[in-house]
Amino acid sequence: MNEKTSTGATAVTDQVTEPQKGGDSPSMLSGWLRLFRTQPGEAMSPEALRMRRRFVWSCVVTYLTANLLMFLRFFFPRALFEPKTVFRIGYPSDFGFGVETKFQEDFRIWVVRNSERLFVIYARCTHLGCTPDWKESENKFKCPCHGSGYDSEGINFEGPAPRPMDRAKVELDAEGQIVVDTGVLYEWPAGATSEFDDPGAFLTV
Ligand code: FES
Repeated sequence: MNEKTSTGATAVTDQVTEPQKGGDSPSMLSGWLRLFRTQPGEAMSPEALRMRRRFVWSCVVTYLTANLLMFLRFFFPRALFEPKTVFRIGYPSDFGFGVETKFQEDFRIWVVRNSERLFVIYARCTHLGCTPDWKESENKFKCPCHGSGYDSEGINFEGPAPRPMDRAKVELDAEGQIVVDTGVLYEWPAGATSEFDDPGAFLTV
């Protein structure tokens, strides 16, 4: 509402709306607060008493449950469970000439046998670590990430790979089965001596 002042200016009179008291729909919070508030001399109704007791117990149970869960968490190690690195793959006679890919999914290896040796290639591209694909029709491994190519013995010949793929340690156990250990790898770094002829890098067949 506007009023004329003694200076002739027009002043605006604020209209203040009185809050409605005792509305029909109090907020949930005020409803909860009323459980804990009583006027002096006012007796609490049995319903309010029951709700207040339930609320307090809910808080106590939630608190204790959270503490119990935090306590139990200490019994579980924060560790990653990785596939084992030492495993058996069968007898040398199980493998014919060429590349065997059936262990790729479980152990990330290929088994290669030629006329003299059996060795295990660790299926990891030496560029940035992708897993190459075996292209049987082209007799080569091809990395899907940046196109590096390796021959059937894992020797790089195209693309950005800086060196051949690594080979895993192989040995025979007491029964004559091949034991592979991918925790021990043999490398042929660019410009350095190859470890592919080291004992453990191959089996003579
Ligand atoms: S990761 Fe294989 S070519 Fe880049």
